[in-house]
Amino acid sequence: MFVCLCKSITDHEIRAAVDGGVTSFEQMQDRLEVSTVCGSCTCEVKKIMQKRLEKEVAQSEAPAFGFPNQTGLGIAGL
Ligand code: FES
Repeated sequence: MFVCLCKSITDHEIRAAVDGGVTSFEQMQDRLEVSTVCGSCTCEVKKIMQKRLEKEVAQSEAPAFGFPNQTGLGIAGL
């Protein structure tokens, strides 16, 4: 879906830029030129960025092999 109509930037492009290392709104403006004309898309751009950055943080904090079972010994039955 288009987020920035002035520059024809989609939500997918914004998420891809975050995945590519963009971490601030200013960097996003430099990279995609999003929100550089009328500015009416600024709030939506920031919301999409924030959600994507939070997802990346959550994934980086997740355990690599899942959670241990109740005994704390890993896979049940082994
Ligand atoms: S809609 Fe993004 S700058 Fe106008």
